[in-house]
Amino acid sequence: MSTTASGRVDLHCHWVANIDDGARSPADGIAMLKGLKALGYTEVVATPHMRPGMFDNDRASIAAGYAAMAPHLAEASTELPAVSLGSEHWFDDVVYGRIVEGHGVPYRGGGALLVEVNPRAFPLLFANRLVDLRRAGFLVVLAHPERYEPVWKDDSCLDPLLDAGATLLLDVASLVGKYGRAAQKAAEKLLDDEAYEAACTDSHKPEDLDSMALALGVLDKRVGRDEAMRLTATAPAAILHRPRGGKQAIPDWVKHASHGTVR
Ligand SMILES: [Fe+2]
Repeated sequence: MSTTASGRVDLHCHWVANIDDGARSPADGIAMLKGLKALGYTEVVATPHMRPGMFDNDRASIAAGYAAMAPHLAEASTELPAVSLGSEHWFDDVVYGRIVEGHGVPYRGGGALLVEVNPRAFPLLFANRLVDLRRAGFLVVLAHPERYEPVWKDDSCLDPLLDAGATLLLDVASLVGKYGRAAQKAAEKLLDDEAYEAACTDSHKPEDLDSMALALGVLDKRVGRDEAMRLTATAPAAILHRPRGGKQAIPDWVKHASHGTVR
């Protein structure tokens, strides 16, 4: 759907209805998009779960769920941010195999995709598989690292993943305690360490937007407005548009760009 040139970009949102634990109706999905627009989001990526055994979606069913939202979007088009499609890939053997075989759902530039892992323990061969995906031309975006128990114990467990080319995506709701104190503390430390490349909302329902203004305000306060806009606008825009095989996760100009200068 349409391209945007400025504003925040949400790389992780469950606004497609009736496909996972996200929006329960098209009206809820539309309400989420309207709420995000009010917070300055100009593009919101739909990232339904692809998680065998829990949300048994594949690329076709995710595309179908997204397409089913189109008439509802059209009804309210002037009030909504632009949208595009991705997926939150559960990084098990099955989904890893799909990604390798070209059956994942990358962001719309084709060169980056969102993954999540079991919050209790990282998968075996995680770093090795990230290297393989980097060689295959993908930037792997790791969803909400602050919510993973191994990170609570010692966040140096992320180092091999970063070395393997992964990039970290903050869920801003972690900053206001949505996932508990340990996740909040981990998020604060990773922010202070400048470990995140971008930030998202991971919204699942309209009510999630109630605390999002507060969360974005906390982000502003902690890192400063310029860095907050890099995390929510310019860096996610670069990830969104990254082509497959792109050499850099984030072009240099993004790091120096001020808000609204996406080129
Ligand atoms: Fe999610």
